[in-house]
Amino acid sequence: MLDGKRIVLGVTGGIAAYKAAELVRELQRAGARVQVVMTDAATRFVGPATFQALSGEPVFVDAWDARIPDNMAHIELSRGADAIVVAPASADFLAKLAHGLADDLLSTLCLARECPLVVAPAMNRQMWSHPATQRNVAQIVADGVVVAGPGSGDQACGEVGLGRMLEPVELVEEIGASFVPKTLAGRRMLLTAGPTFEPIDPVRGITNRSSGKMGFALARALRDAGADVVLVAGPTALASPRGIRRIDVDTAQRMHDAVTAELDAGQREGRRFDVFVGVAAVADWRVANASAKKWKKDGGRTPALAFAENPDILASVARRPDAPYCVGFAAESERLEEHGVAKRARKGVPLLVANIGPDTFGRDDNELLLIDEHGSRRLPRAGKEALARALADEIARRITR
Ligand code: C5P
Repeated sequence: MLDGKRIVLGVTGGIAAYKAAELVRELQRAGARVQVVMTDAATRFVGPATFQALSGEPVFVDAWDARIPDNMAHIELSRGADAIVVAPASADFLAKLAHGLADDLLSTLCLARECPLVVAPAMNRQMWSHPATQRNVAQIVADGVVVAGPGSGDQACGEVGLGRMLEPVELVEEIGASFVPKTLAGRRMLLTAGPTFEPIDPVRGITNRSSGKMGFALARALRDAGADVVLVAGPTALASPRGIRRIDVDTAQRMHDAVTAELDAGQREGRRFDVFVGVAAVADWRVANASAKKWKKDGGRTPALAFAENPDILASVARRPDAPYCVGFAAESERLEEHGVAKRARKGVPLLVANIGPDTFGRDDNELLLIDEHGSRRLPRAGKEALARALADEIARRITR
């Protein structure tokens, strides 16, 4: 996600500075090179040697550091950076940013930059909610700074509330998103993802091996491109992506009803969806003779299940007079392109995305074949995150041309 990016990581004085050490690791895992700059107060919480060892680069604290010629550390360090990330950002540091103060190396760097600036506030909940801090945050947002978090939860002071620094993995996601062009700003997207669950009785049911990974990854990629995303999810253990409204459902019928309710509300409120993507592996049939009571093993008699067809969510969305741009998914075991072309026509959707085997369910990588009115195009094997970003680009190109 951050392949080849040079990140200057600024660490200010707060107990969350210990999480910045883990952030260095996560940034590197995402492909970035990290250069750490600390404030004097930060060194009281974590020693520069820790960051030096993790980043493999010298750590700078002092604006007058003799290791950089001409006393131009602020210019030298910000010149090559793709982004400056300040994590944790203390209340004091946010105040400095809001006023353009430059009385130490890190604040000077932030002023002498051309690259994006992402800050991750971390402080006691009262400091965060204080009108002065809120005023400063509003000012730096207006100045184009990306403010990531804070989250809420237990605080080092023993209180609970808003002010916790986001976790390192969440921050890496936010930093990655700050590099994505906002090609889908103002667009609304409705997605389904994951499997469905069709009950047999109160304790048993029929489901499938869909993990939801592809649909959740696509939801995040669309969000990162600036879209407003609603995700209707079947049963999965995946964490809810930040900034996305998630509606949990179990059966295909409930997934259908949730999708229809969202589209109706969008139409009614003049906020129509621009795109619908059916990534979910929806059960084609439900159990027609599901029992309200648990089926008992009964003298060797095996139960016989009867099936009824479920509504086809994708086809029903595509048939609506106010249909958004519809994208379908297909998992075929043979003659992928031929079946994909036929499915695209049968469902009445402009774009069909076929999973190229052998077995995509639950895996972290995949290979896709995009089928539209012009023919087909392969997205070669890659991680589902990377494929989701490529697919988000393809969708953006199709709806904005
Ligand atoms: O017909 P098939 O299940 O292969 O089609 C797959 C596509 O149709 C996926 O996009 C899936 O989300 C959608 N679908 C649906 N409702 C169904 C069955 C499939 O929306 N009942």
